[in-house]
Amino acid sequence: MVRHWVFGYGSLIWRVDFPYLERRRATLHGWARRFWQGSHDHRGTPDAPGRVVTLIPEPNAACAGMAYQVDDAVFAHLDHREKNGYARMTLNIALCDRAERVPSVVYVADEGNPAFLGPAPLEAIAGHILRSSGPSGRNADYLLELDAALREMGVQDDHIRDLARRVSLRSGDGLLPRAGA
Ligand code: SIN
Repeated sequence: MVRHWVFGYGSLIWRVDFPYLERRRATLHGWARRFWQGSHDHRGTPDAPGRVVTLIPEPNAACAGMAYQVDDAVFAHLDHREKNGYARMTLNIALCDRAERVPSVVYVADEGNPAFLGPAPLEAIAGHILRSSGPSGRNADYLLELDAALREMGVQDDHIRDLARRVSLRSGDGLLPRAGA
């Protein structure tokens, strides 16, 4: 059995539908989490893609997430789940309780992939998220689940917090239901 670390920074933090041997908080230095990737298959459709997170290289940034130690066999499932523009990269992550960094698989949707949407003003991204939904549910739920998971972990991510505030305000009730998927 070959074991690997997988670093999750988006739905892989809060929607854990795969077996793992161990889970640790971790940080990826030099990358920023951004709602710049289109979603045709989970939180939108090919005609009306939603917006989900990807990682953008940024020298002084640090992205906090969750690392899972998994068996090789899990990649068949994860590759299918992350198929809309994401590719596996191997990057060094800092596990919360270890001094040295360890190599980890990370699913990154780079700007060359066909579903990449890129930057937009936060208010426009919030509006886009509010309008979108797909087979996995409402795009707003993806954002609010991620925001809740990061806050529970004590992670400060201004991009996510700001978007979650805008979406909660504009959704009227400020309390969208938790997503099932
Ligand atoms: C991840 O969570 O690590 C990748 C992006 C996503 O599935 O939301």
